[in-house]
Amino acid sequence: MQLLLDTADVIVLKDLVATGLVDGVTTNPTLIAKSGRPMLEVIAEICDLVEGPVSAEVAATESQAMLAEGRKLASAASNVVVKVPLTREGLIAVRQFSAEGIQTNVTLCFSAPQALLAAKAGANYISPFVGRLDDHGAVGMDLISEIRAIYDNYDFDTEILAASIRNGSHVTQAAIAGADCATIPPDVFASLFKHPLTEKGLDQFLADWAKTGQSIL
Ligand code: G3P
Repeated sequence: MQLLLDTADVIVLKDLVATGLVDGVTTNPTLIAKSGRPMLEVIAEICDLVEGPVSAEVAATESQAMLAEGRKLASAASNVVVKVPLTREGLIAVRQFSAEGIQTNVTLCFSAPQALLAAKAGANYISPFVGRLDDHGAVGMDLISEIRAIYDNYDFDTEILAASIRNGSHVTQAAIAGADCATIPPDVFASLFKHPLTEKGLDQFLADWAKTGQSIL
């Protein structure tokens, strides 16, 4: 399973990239706005930090304008994936991006038929928003399972990228449901290393080790 970071904060990203466990990055207009920086500058910097896919989202809503924006974003680095909203216009653009060999991530997916259309349009990634579906009163993770079944039935290559992840349990459930990737906010990513019993156990081991007076080196 590929673990991506959902952030446009380069300082936070650098810190987690140092673990060697970050496979890529996703951004969206909200995250770019939060960074307070010019989008193309941030995307280029992120692409220098990670070898894997870096999603950069178009802001246009009409297919021709999305294509113009997406081509520009894709020219920033070879690992840019153009993120396109799951609308009729968006999927028209995705079909063309696919023909041009430009990678796409179709975002704001909230239903299985939407995911089916995105795969048929040639999307490289589909981003179902698990947390926002939960907020809406649905069980977001059910959508991951539905899409997995549909894509497997028809051998679609589109990768399922679980998005809007809010906690470690979402990561577990997405992995069990067969998501190919999950994009994780930095605070949730950092929490994945931790368990209170790990900390408690380590404290005990270190205290007992100190009593031996030994040194390994
Ligand atoms: O980047 C898309 C997605 O992960 C957004 O998450 O927490 O704003 O619902 P959230």
